This record gives sequence, structure tokens and C-alpha cells, in this order.
Amino acid sequence: MRRIIIVAVAKNYVIGKASGDMSWNVKEDFDHFKSTTIGYPVLMGRKTYGYFKKPLRDRVHIVITHDKKFDPKHEGVKVFYTLQEGFDYVETLNKDRMFIIGGGEVYKQVLQEGLVDEMIISWMDFEAEGEVSFPRFDKSEWEVKIGRKESSLK
Ligand SMILES: NC(=O)c1ccc[n+]([C@@H]2O[C@H](COP(=O)([O-])OP(=O)(O)OC[C@H]3O[C@@H](n4cnc5c(N)ncnc54)[C@H](OP(=O)(O)O)[C@@H]3O)[C@@H](O)[C@H]2O)c1
Repeated sequence: MRRIIIVAVAKNYVIGKASGDMSWNVKEDFDHFKSTTIGYPVLMGRKTYGYFKKPLRDRVHIVITHDKKFDPKHEGVKVFYTLQEGFDYVETLNKDRMFIIGGGEVYKQVLQEGLVDEMIISWMDFEAEGEVSFPRFDKSEWEVKIGRKESSLK
């Protein structure tokens, strides 16, 4: 199963605010996120999950936390206490890919631990304000494919 990071990153590597808010609102990128991930398992940290109003449609959610009492409050959302347990569960789902959807802490760990096969990065064409960043990574270690799309900031 291919493990794929999907993320939107500003020029200064910011991906969000400590409050959980996104630092921008680009509809085209939300649409791209949805159409890319729909039907596939999505793995995330407890904070990113907590910022959703409700789980995303048609995607098995795997949430990672240290908190053994954490209640995701939605049926079908799977909770695990280590990344490895989460990935082990995903392997049982019989899909050819899964998406790692954040946030900063989770991206950092999966990259550091070499757990990622592919990254789909929407590079925003601006710097953003926020306390949460995507980790710097060595681009020379990745085969890069680039597409460009103009979009409007909302
Ligand atoms: N731009 C984008 O594409 C994008 C995508 C996703 C998120 N974001 C942004 O990212 C921010 C959230 O990221 P974040 O770094 O604050 O938090 P996060 O990575 O979403 O969640 C961190 C939490 O996950 C749990 N966790 C992480 N690693 C773990 C491990 N190895 N074992 C067990 N539990 C683990 C811990 O939960 P406990 O504290 O419960 O133990 C930790 O506090 C928000 O601003 C959001 O908007 C941006």
C-alpha cells in the first residue's frame, strides 16, 4: 500500500495556526484534497481530527493519540496510540493507497521515520501566518513532478 502525504504548504512552510485554523482558504485546494483522498483511508493526529466539524465523507479515519481515553465521538473512526499501530490497521483495509493528512507533528514523524512513499504538496504562492509548519525536507531525495494551477484566494 502506498503511503501518501497530502498537504498544502505556504512559501515559508506554514501549514496552519496553533488554534487549528488553516492560514488560508483556497477552494480549489479543498476540492483537490477531496477528489484525491475520497474512498481511501486517511491517517491524522488527534489535533487535526479535532478541528474537523465532522468526519470526512467516504474515508476511513485513523486518529493517533497518546490519550487512552480519547473518544472520537463518531462511529467508525479508529483510534490508535502509536503511528505503527495505525499503519498496521491501514494495511488490513485492502486498499492500494492511504493518505497521511496531517498535521505538523504527524508529517514530521512520518518523514523522519521514512514511512512515506509519495507526497502530494500544494505549494501556495504566498507566505502565510501560523505557528504550525511542514518540516523542511531534502528535495533531492524525491522524484519531483510539477503541475501548476492558478487559483484565487478567498
Ligand atoms: N495545510 C495543510 O495541508 C494541513 C493539513 C492538516 C493539518 N494542518 C494544520 O496543522 C495543524 C495541526 O497540526 P499539529 O502539529 O498541531 O497537530 P497534529 O499533528 O494534527 O496532532 C498532534 C497530536 O497527534 C497525536 N500524536 C502525534 N504523534 C503521535 C504518536 N507518535 N503517537 C501517539 N499520538 C501521536 C498527539 O495527540 P495527543 O495530544 O492526544 O496525545 C499529538 O498532540 C492545524 O493548524 C491544522 O490546520 C494543515
